[in-house]
Amino acid sequence: MGKIIAIANQKGGVGKTTTTINLSAALAKLNTKVLVVDCDPQGNTTSGLGIKSKIKDDENYTSYDLMTTDASVEDCIQYTEYDFNPQLEVIPSSVNLSAAEAELNNIDGRNFILRNKLQGIKDQYDYILIDCPPSLTVLTINALTAADSVIVPIQCEFYALEGLTQLMQTINLTRLRLNSTLKVEGILFTMYDSRTNLSQDVVSNVKEGINENIFNAIIPRNVKLAEAPSYGKPICIYDAKSSGAVAYNELAMEILKNDKIVSKKKDVKKSTSSKPAGKTRTGVKSVGASGKRAARKNTLIEKSKERNKSKENN
Ligand SMILES: Nc1ncnc2c1ncn2[C@@H]1O[C@H](COP(=O)(O)OP(=O)(O)O)[C@@H](O)[C@H]1O
Ligand SMILES: [Mg+2]
Repeated sequence: MGKIIAIANQKGGVGKTTTTINLSAALAKLNTKVLVVDCDPQGNTTSGLGIKSKIKDDENYTSYDLMTTDASVEDCIQYTEYDFNPQLEVIPSSVNLSAAEAELNNIDGRNFILRNKLQGIKDQYDYILIDCPPSLTVLTINALTAADSVIVPIQCEFYALEGLTQLMQTINLTRLRLNSTLKVEGILFTMYDSRTNLSQDVVSNVKEGINENIFNAIIPRNVKLAEAPSYGKPICIYDAKSSGAVAYNELAMEILKNDKIVSKKKDVKKSTSSKPAGKTRTGVKSVGASGKRAARKNTLIEKSKERNKSKENN
C-alpha cells in the first residue's frame, strides 16, 4: 500500500519536527518500512535523526535537489544507524532549500514536484512522513499535494487555535485544486501538561470546535523529548521508558490500528538487512555530485521552458 503523511502546521514550535522524528522511529521500531522527507530548510529532523553529521550539502543530494533538479528519491536517500529492521530512511534537508521557493516560481507544475517524485516509490514503503516548514508556501503545498493524509500537531497553550482556521482553509483549497483525496489523519495534542487547567481547556476547546479526527494519543511535555535531538537520537532510543517515548509509541500503534496494520514485529528476522547489497548510500556521490546537480537542474529548467514554448505554439 504505502501511505504518505505530511506533518503540517504553519505555526512554528508546535511539535512538527519532534513528531516527525519520533513517530517515524516508533513506526520503524514496530518493523514498518518508513521514509522521512525533511522539507524544512532548518533541517532539525535531519539532525535529530543523526544524519546531519554524515552529509555535506555540496556532496550529497538533499530535499533541495529533489525539489529543484531531476534527482530521484533514491539519489537522495540516507540510512539512519539505529537498531531498526527495516532501517529508517531519510531524505535530508539543507539550508539552500529556503531558496527553492524562488527557484520554483517559474517552473510549470511546481506544486506537483514532490507528488510526482514520491509516486513511483510509494509502494516500497509502509509510511512516508514529510516534515513541513512553519509556513504555507510552496514546500508545504507540495507536501499536502503529495500526501494521502496530514497530521496537525497542536501545542497545548493559549494561542493553540491561532492559525488553525487558516491551515484548514489551505487543506480544503488543496483538496479542491490539487489533491481531492487528502484526509486529516488526525489532530495531535503536543506538550500537554496534565497539571495545568490550560492544557485540559485547550483539548476540550479543540474537541468542541473542530470536526476532524483527533488522536487518542496525547504527547506530554517531557524534557527528554527536547534533549534527545542533540544526541541525534529519537526518543525510543534515547530513553525508551520516558513518557514521551510511551506516547509516541501509542501514536504509532493508533495509526497502525487505524490502517489495520498489525505490528510486523514477530514476522521479521533480525538478520535480514534492508540495505541493498554492496551499496553504501552515505557519501556515495562524493565525487562530482555538484556538477551532476547543476546538469540536472538545467535539464529541469530546459524541460519546463520547452513545455512553455509548446504551450505558446499551440
Ligand atoms: N512534547 C514535548 N515536550 C517538551 N519539549 C518539546 C515537546 N515537543 C517539542 N518540544 C520542543 O519544543 C520545541 C519546538 O518543537 P519542534 O518539534 O521543533 O516544533 P516545530 O517543528 O513545529 O517548529 C523544540 O525545542 C522541541 O524540542
Ligand atoms: Mg520544525
